[in-house]
Amino acid sequence: MYRTNTCGELNMNFTGQDVILCGWVQKSRDLGGMTFVDLRDRYGITQLVFNMETNKDLCEKARKLGREFVVQAKGKVKERSNKNLKIQTGEIEIDVLELNILNRSELPPFTIEDETDGGEELRMKYRYLDLRRNSVKNNIILRHKLSQEVRKYMDSIGFIEVETPVLIKSTPEGARDFVVPSRMQPGTFYALPQSPQTLKQLLMVAGFDKYFQIVKCFRDEDLRADRQPEFSQIDCEMSFVERNDILETFEGLAKYLFKQIRGIEFKEPFLRLPYSDAMEFYGSDKPDLRFGMRFTDITENVKGHDFAVFDSSEYTGGICAEGCSEYTRKQIDELTEFVRKPQLGAKGLVYIRYNTDGSIKSSVDKFYTTEDLMRLAVTMKAKPGDLIMILAGDKKRTLSALSELRLEMGTRLGLRKKDIFIPLWVVDFPLLEWDEETKRFYAMHHPFTSPNPEDINLMESDPGKVRANAYDLVINGVEIGGGSIRIHDAAVQKLMFKVLGFTDEEANEQFGFLLNAFKFGAPPHGGIAFGFDRWAAMFGGQDSIRDFIAFPKNNSGRDVMLDTPAKISVKQLAELQLSIGNKK
Ligand code: AMO
Repeated sequence: MYRTNTCGELNMNFTGQDVILCGWVQKSRDLGGMTFVDLRDRYGITQLVFNMETNKDLCEKARKLGREFVVQAKGKVKERSNKNLKIQTGEIEIDVLELNILNRSELPPFTIEDETDGGEELRMKYRYLDLRRNSVKNNIILRHKLSQEVRKYMDSIGFIEVETPVLIKSTPEGARDFVVPSRMQPGTFYALPQSPQTLKQLLMVAGFDKYFQIVKCFRDEDLRADRQPEFSQIDCEMSFVERNDILETFEGLAKYLFKQIRGIEFKEPFLRLPYSDAMEFYGSDKPDLRFGMRFTDITENVKGHDFAVFDSSEYTGGICAEGCSEYTRKQIDELTEFVRKPQLGAKGLVYIRYNTDGSIKSSVDKFYTTEDLMRLAVTMKAKPGDLIMILAGDKKRTLSALSELRLEMGTRLGLRKKDIFIPLWVVDFPLLEWDEETKRFYAMHHPFTSPNPEDINLMESDPGKVRANAYDLVINGVEIGGGSIRIHDAAVQKLMFKVLGFTDEEANEQFGFLLNAFKFGAPPHGGIAFGFDRWAAMFGGQDSIRDFIAFPKNNSGRDVMLDTPAKISVKQLAELQLSIGNKK
């Protein structure tokens, strides 16, 4: 038997017992006559003690142990004189009688501590060492717990977990596909699923009624903290449902997970916010509602004062930052620089200080009288002590810059607390998005999303106005999940393809398998998919999903540990009948 106990379980109840522990040497301290070794495994740390007086040879052996050596220690549990009540095993230690080195370790390239000295790249390269650190290990354990709870809940409400293939045909989710060449049919390719969207719809045609899966999805897109090229979804689909059935079912799941994982109970239903309001008041389809600072549209209020910027702008809007009237020139300059970053593209920032003494002062005093500014302050519901910040320009860009400014202020004012969660449903997304470059409409979600029944008559006359029967679950400014009621009527699907500019042949070539299936009795259906990694990161109180994935990719999509993507051999290329073009 390698071990009788783990390094996290022994306490005063075990004193006097003979035990065998195995683990890694966290550190060893040599205090003259005594040597102490912290032995670590997944469960915790236990102190081993070696006494020079009672066993000189063993003590000398212990002194030679290096960090991360794998050892087996046999000994007796005894009460510690110097207790460490911060750790579970801190009241005891093991008086070691036998020590076996099971494996040696080179000096690790960074310290295996909660606060490590290793940089990101190094830790990614030695991910298996990084995973020994408590913080990363606990994230992976949280992820495990989350998946268990998801399965438990979904099973309890009648969902069946079905696996779908990974080598499939391109699915239209808006990103690029990863493709896999076929050896048996040279010149043809599989695509890795961006999601199992079409397959789960086929499972509804197959009569499965309620499907879910925790599934890997692959998208070749620009990466960010909350995006990986390979990520997991909790993918779900249901038959004979309307929007409300889906929202209620999955609000149930969300509430259950909050309770089980974070001990938080949501008694009230989640807010349902139309997309148009989300954009108008927060400039984002994933608003962070942990704080207010809603936008006020003052486009018309500020025109007619010879201030060309406002007179000519399509949209002028502002936010009110509570208690910030005393921001220094430097702080305001910083915020101005912030909104002028090329990604945000605002031309400048106009501010109004509504001072605590009731006086009012702005960066546009030349154009607006005190009374004008006061009226504006009333419109914006500002109070003495507030700082009003205003941006102007074309509507889409300005809303988006104002949204970033709002988030920045939320962060600066400490309003985006990690342990507060405000979930909401964003509903009534537009069905279609116009693309200026290609001069055509694209499906905002995917081509199988049903239009809002009230808007179907606009499909041909005014497609941009049609709302989709689609919804997103947003928590603290993060899109946690999204889905829709699907089209199950062949005529509506045909109309949708027409609006998207597909000919019948093109639609058949790409989605023939689905359209065919719909000829055999497709039930009304709808579904949703949640970003599983995002749930985990949110419950873990972090922004980056990377540390909730055991072996993630870096921001360039590389796995620096496996050193991939990598070249393949000439033989492999030949088998696939592929050749690599030379870059000019
Ligand atoms: P959607 O594309 O909105 O919908 O994806 C669902 C959820 O998956 C998460 N997500 C990601 N997480 C990490 N890295 C990524 N690159 C990434 N991309 C998406 C998000 C998102 O809300 N088939 C539809 C769902 C449906 O209609 O049922 C779909 O995939 O949290």
